[in-house]
Amino acid sequence: MKYTIAVIPGDGIGPEVTNQAKKALDAVAEVYDHIFLYKEAQMGACAIDAVGTPLPDETIAICKKADAILFGAIGDPKYDNDPSAKVRPEQGLLKIRKELGLFCNIRPVKAFDALIKNSPLKREIIKGTDIVIFRELTGGIYFGKKETSKDGQSAFDGCSYTVEEISRITHLAFKAAQSRKKKVTLVDKANVLETSRLWRKTVTEIAKEYKDITLEYLFVDNAAMQLILNPKQFDVILTDNLFGDIISDEASVIGGSIGLLASSSIGKTSALFEPIHGSFPQAKGKDIANPLASILSAAMMLEHLGLDEEADAIERAVEKSLTLGITTEDIKGKNKYSASTSKVGDFISDYILNQHDSNLNFKNIHMGQSTII
Ligand code: IPM
Ligand code: MG
Repeated sequence: MKYTIAVIPGDGIGPEVTNQAKKALDAVAEVYDHIFLYKEAQMGACAIDAVGTPLPDETIAICKKADAILFGAIGDPKYDNDPSAKVRPEQGLLKIRKELGLFCNIRPVKAFDALIKNSPLKREIIKGTDIVIFRELTGGIYFGKKETSKDGQSAFDGCSYTVEEISRITHLAFKAAQSRKKKVTLVDKANVLETSRLWRKTVTEIAKEYKDITLEYLFVDNAAMQLILNPKQFDVILTDNLFGDIISDEASVIGGSIGLLASSSIGKTSALFEPIHGSFPQAKGKDIANPLASILSAAMMLEHLGLDEEADAIERAVEKSLTLGITTEDIKGKNKYSASTSKVGDFISDYILNQHDSNLNFKNIHMGQSTII
């Protein structure tokens, strides 16, 4: 089959990690006889530098025509440290979410066995954790009315939700739970916020249509604590835009590295796939950033396109790289055995291409001691 993929490398380490995801996709294309046609587009600080806006119309047009979108990262320190900047890279990401109606952000969090020792959390607490966070992505405080008073002495961010906005993601979360451990935890702040009370009411009502699913409720402050105390209690977490942003970064600690967390953002007609880590400007151009989250985002994209076997091939290659220790320094530490970004990408691609060839001693080849036996 032939698929058109819009590729938005973005800022910082975005281009480097996205290149590795493309390598993995090219390997999949070769083995499974597909064609992935990449259409590159700009977004973020690089787009501001090039054309003065973080999301050029051309990028939206390319994305709308594509079967799926692969995105790298966004952000640049020169904007982070300038609160008065009117044009900011992140506006590009928020706008594309809104323009393409990407209302449902899905962030899986798994404790990979090979990485448990990397987590600052205790082995017995995190082993076996398998959570998926459903974060609402086009509503709430991110998109409410924003204002700073003329005298600069006060500022305002409004938060609003409609029943429709809550319902559409809730159905997706419950459906996902049906093929998992059949539990949904709604994370909100219903003891304080009106919008959270609307979430509770709406989700409780919808839950009646899913009799096989257990629905639990947690206030976000407690949820933040429970995620670290006992992450295995969670299956599907359903939450709003801001809470989802915060707890998904927190949950990444369970996986041993934020460099492993992939995500998908789904709308009615478009779908975008991106690592949840940011642009990591300190690592830009150094070939040291972890490409696995981007590669796993490509796997999520394949799954979305109905290519389950192909997605599995990527996931198996990622697991293999972790068990063999062919990983970047965020996982390995800054020792001589850590691999570069592109080396990890080469390994993943090679493993996909040769997955049935048990005679290949991948570890030695990729450690630079080729021993084909
Ligand atoms: C994320 C990021 C974005 C967000 C930023 C870059 C606008 O943190 O995707 O989690 O807050 O949604
Ligand atoms: Mg975030």
